[in-house]
Amino acid sequence: MKLRSLGNSTLSVPPVIFGAWAIGGWRWGGTDDAAAIRAIHASIDAGTTAIDTAPVYGFGHSESVVGRAIADRRGAVQVLTKVGLRWDLTEGAHFFDSDGRRVYRNLRPAAIRAEVEGSLRRLGIDEIDLLQCHWPDPSTPVEETMAGLAALVAEGKVRAVGVSNFSPELLSQAKAALGSVPLASTQPRYSLMDRAIEAAVLPWCIGAGVGAIVYSPIEQGLLSGRVTMERTFPDDDGRSRSPKFTPESRARVLAALEDTADIAAAHSATPAQVAIAWCVHQPGVTAAIVGARSPQQAIENAAAGRIALTAAELERLSSVFSG
Ligand SMILES: NC(=O)c1ccc[n+]([C@@H]2O[C@H](COP(=O)([O-])OP(=O)(O)OC[C@H]3O[C@@H](n4cnc5c(N)ncnc54)[C@H](OP(=O)(O)O)[C@@H]3O)[C@@H](O)[C@H]2O)c1
Repeated sequence: MKLRSLGNSTLSVPPVIFGAWAIGGWRWGGTDDAAAIRAIHASIDAGTTAIDTAPVYGFGHSESVVGRAIADRRGAVQVLTKVGLRWDLTEGAHFFDSDGRRVYRNLRPAAIRAEVEGSLRRLGIDEIDLLQCHWPDPSTPVEETMAGLAALVAEGKVRAVGVSNFSPELLSQAKAALGSVPLASTQPRYSLMDRAIEAAVLPWCIGAGVGAIVYSPIEQGLLSGRVTMERTFPDDDGRSRSPKFTPESRARVLAALEDTADIAAAHSATPAQVAIAWCVHQPGVTAAIVGARSPQQAIENAAAGRIALTAAELERLSSVFSG
């Protein structure tokens, strides 16, 4: 798959990146490690050579599974992980509680350094290709965080620096504070159903030469058309409580997918592939991070990176899903 430069960094990524949150199991109703490893292998073989994970995904489990999957193919993948959500420390800004754990936003340099050591160990690698601040930490000045990250780049533990869920104002501060180290990317939420970043984040990225790798592009499976009215989710799957998965919401999404079925048919594509392709065609978007739990999903999602939608198709998809 043709790689795209990630902002002004030295890193290039495919337009479809493997998202490793679900394979951590937490908030996804558990996981099957053997299937997850098969999914990662299928994904790499299909050209999705970048993997996005985070320490908090399964409280270390996602990174460990990714580490096992890439043990014999490190040279073929770009490893993207995150810092700043701690369940094992009680310093920083309290964010949420889950599974009996208190999770804090913590982007203090000493905490980042310790977290990176844990990620390197779980992933079984000696350099992280892209290290991203998972969420802003209001208890730590951005300048301190960026100085900590720049030091890790200088030491060769991190190749490129990114952020996630940052406002344009915070993005500007982060970029300025990094000095000669480029801010490679931001990671915001984006899909046909959630286009908030078009107002300010994507224009900022274009103006600043910073990449955008967007998450939840198929709305956790909803835009695949496979979340039918009948499908149920276990209590420990976040989708069981999400307002986007109510019967009313599902019915509206299924109707919109029906309205645009001709676009999928014209490309011999599935609805999930069309939704992913739509994202990676948008100005300012470098890549879409898509979760997969089986080889079939991984192969299907990877192929979306090769679909060329026309301007008229992009416009119609935008209009049918708006609102
Ligand atoms: N930075 C952040 O704050 C943040 C937040 C969220 C996500 N992320 C990143 O973005 C990645 C993707 O986001 P996401 O996992 O929330 O949502 P997503 O990619 O929109 O949806 C992934 C889920 O959809 C289902 N699916 C995948 N491919 C499918 C296909 N071809 N057909 C039908 N269903 C399919 C799978 O669940 P089932 O098989 O169980 O239905 C899968 O776990 C995450 O893994 C993570 O790396 C980052």
